[in-house]
Amino acid sequence: MRRLMMLMLLATTVPGVMHAGPLGGTGGIVSGSLGALQEKTVKDGVFTVDQAVRGRERYDATCQRCHGADLTGGAGRSLTGDVFLRDWAGLTLDGLFERMQSMPPDGSESLAADAYVDIISYVLERNGFPAGAGELSAGVLGGVRVEGDEGPNVVPNFALVRVVGCLTGSEGDGWRLSHASEEARAADPAASAGDERAAAEAAPLGDAAFQLMYVFPSPAAYVGHKVETKGLLIRGDDDEHSLNVTSVQSLAERCGP
Ligand code: HEC
Repeated sequence: MRRLMMLMLLATTVPGVMHAGPLGGTGGIVSGSLGALQEKTVKDGVFTVDQAVRGRERYDATCQRCHGADLTGGAGRSLTGDVFLRDWAGLTLDGLFERMQSMPPDGSESLAADAYVDIISYVLERNGFPAGAGELSAGVLGGVRVEGDEGPNVVPNFALVRVVGCLTGSEGDGWRLSHASEEARAADPAASAGDERAAAEAAPLGDAAFQLMYVFPSPAAYVGHKVETKGLLIRGDDDEHSLNVTSVQSLAERCGP
C-alpha cells in the first residue's frame, strides 16, 4: 500500500520519469538537484512565525485527526523527525506541496493553495527549522530544499541510483540484492558501459539489502551473480529500501564477500 502511494507520488511529483526513454528524461532530475547549490534550504529561515501559527490552525482543523496532534502520525504518516527527513530530504518543497494538495485523501476538504503553504511552514517549524523575515509563498517552493543534519550528501528519495550487489530471490518471491553497496547517484538509467562499467565491476560489496521492484526482463539467469542494478530509490520505513528498477546487468558469475 505504502509502496503504491509512493509510486503514485513519484508519478505526480517527477513528471517524465516514469515515461522517460532509456537515454532521455532523467538528466533533468540530476541536474535539477545539482543546481541545488544556488537553492535555499529549509535551514535558511524561509517562513515567518505568524505563518506557522496560521498553519497550525489549518493543520489542527483538517489534518490532525490523521497525522496526530504532534505530527507523529496515526492513520496518516508521520510528518516529523526521521520519517519526514527520509521522505523529503534532498527534495524541494514543491513536491511536499503537491502531495499535500491531494490531502485529505478523500478530497472532501481541499484547502486553498495558501493554506497548504502555511501548513508547510508549520510542519517545518515542528521539525525544528527556523523562522525568518519573509513569508513562504507557493512560487518559491521549488527553490527551497529539505535538508537534515546529514546535509546535502544524503541521496534523496526517488533519485536515480546505482547499487552493486548479489542477486537473490525468484520470480515468485521477488528479487533482492544482498551484500549490496550503499546507493550512489546515477545519471543514466541504462546499464553502465565502458569506464563506468569497469568501475562497477571493481566496486566493493557492502552489507546493504534492497528489494527490487518491476524487474523486466526477468533477471533469473543472474541469480548468484554480482550485478549492477540501477533504479529509482524508494526509501522504506526502516532500513529496508527498494529500487524501482531501470536496468540490471551481470558483472561477474560469482558474488560474495
Ligand atoms: C483521513 C485521514 C487523513 C487526513 C485528514 C489527512 N491525511 Fe495526509 N495522509 C493520509 C494517509 C493515509 C497518507 C498516506 C500514508 C502513507 O503513504 O503511508 C497521507 C500522507 C500524507 C503526506 C505524505 C507523507 C509522506 O512523507 O509520504 C503528507 C505530506 C500529508 N499526508 C499531509 C496532509 C495534510 C497537510 C493534511 C491536511 C490538509 C492531511 N494530510 C490530511 C491520511 C490523511
